[in-house]
Amino acid sequence: MPPLPLDVFLRRRQRSLVLKLVQMAEDTPEDLLILTTVRDATLPAVSHALMVAMLAISLARLMDFRRRDLVRLGVCALSHNIGEALLPPELLDLPREPTEAEQAVARQHPLLGMRHLLEHFGFEIPIVERALASVEHHIHYDGHGYPELGHAPAHIFSRIIAVADVYNGLVRDVPLRVGYPPDQAMKLVNRRATTQLDPFMVRQFLRLIGRYPPGTLVELDSGEYALVVGPGGGLEPLTRPRVLVLTDSDGYEVEDLMTVDLGDRHARRRAWKRTIVRTRDSRNLAAPVARYLFADRVEVEPEKLDIDDESLRKRSDVDRREAVARRFVATGQSFAPGELPRDVRDIPGTDEEG
Ligand SMILES: [Fe+2]
Repeated sequence: MPPLPLDVFLRRRQRSLVLKLVQMAEDTPEDLLILTTVRDATLPAVSHALMVAMLAISLARLMDFRRRDLVRLGVCALSHNIGEALLPPELLDLPREPTEAEQAVARQHPLLGMRHLLEHFGFEIPIVERALASVEHHIHYDGHGYPELGHAPAHIFSRIIAVADVYNGLVRDVPLRVGYPPDQAMKLVNRRATTQLDPFMVRQFLRLIGRYPPGTLVELDSGEYALVVGPGGGLEPLTRPRVLVLTDSDGYEVEDLMTVDLGDRHARRRAWKRTIVRTRDSRNLAAPVARYLFADRVEVEPEKLDIDDESLRKRSDVDRREAVARRFVATGQSFAPGELPRDVRDIPGTDEEG
């Protein structure tokens, strides 16, 4: 791997790039997420920084960050690994597992990055923010990780960047390991909530990319193969995403790619039209995932989304609270939240699944 070209860290260039990304996050959020499925092996460190920035901006936009803050966060994300450029170049391109001593040197990159930024650009707030993102992005939510700075909670930018960094670190190919499929990576990210990662940020991240993140290759119960494009429009957008159908039910490639919503039901029987059976490794596809996702496609409008059905529509919080209150009056006793009587828990909208 060539040493990290420092010019991607030039401040002015970074800002204009991030401005473009933020604009994209506001105008076409789905396209920005799809861009993160591009795997470019030629400039791994730079593409990693870019993917982390895109994921972090998308995540913060979902949390209603103001535009100004999106830009600040994006710039921090782009330069979070700036310290890696200051490591001995051969360390980033080892043909084997690093020894413990080498690992210890590599783990200096957060501190090296912080020092570089503060020494060269001073203590203005935007620089301090970037220095914080650099020094804190490997510090765990529970205080572990590195460098050891004690138990202080990390800056909100660092906690967002940490989630994006871990996720993209899992899906990308590195010299000794091929990347995980996106759904597996999401599972692993979820497993690290509360230990390594801020559980709130992980929940938001799940809301952003779903159980089946964009780029996941799925097999449907219809026999068709499809790529996940983004969240669906129905009641279960995370588990019933919109997908791009690649093959017919016999496995033959279709001529015109089309997207369908897995929240779509048969009009009469209310049964799902298509359901994900299992996920597959998208590396078996003839072309990189991104090429399919950016190809021309036909958008098929769902005939009957699950949300169209009045009886399935989620009730508002007020409805739910009233129903629970009524129930309590009827039984004349109170329950701890975990021991609600079965029929109260079954009120639509009260379950956490989905
Ligand atoms: Fe790092």
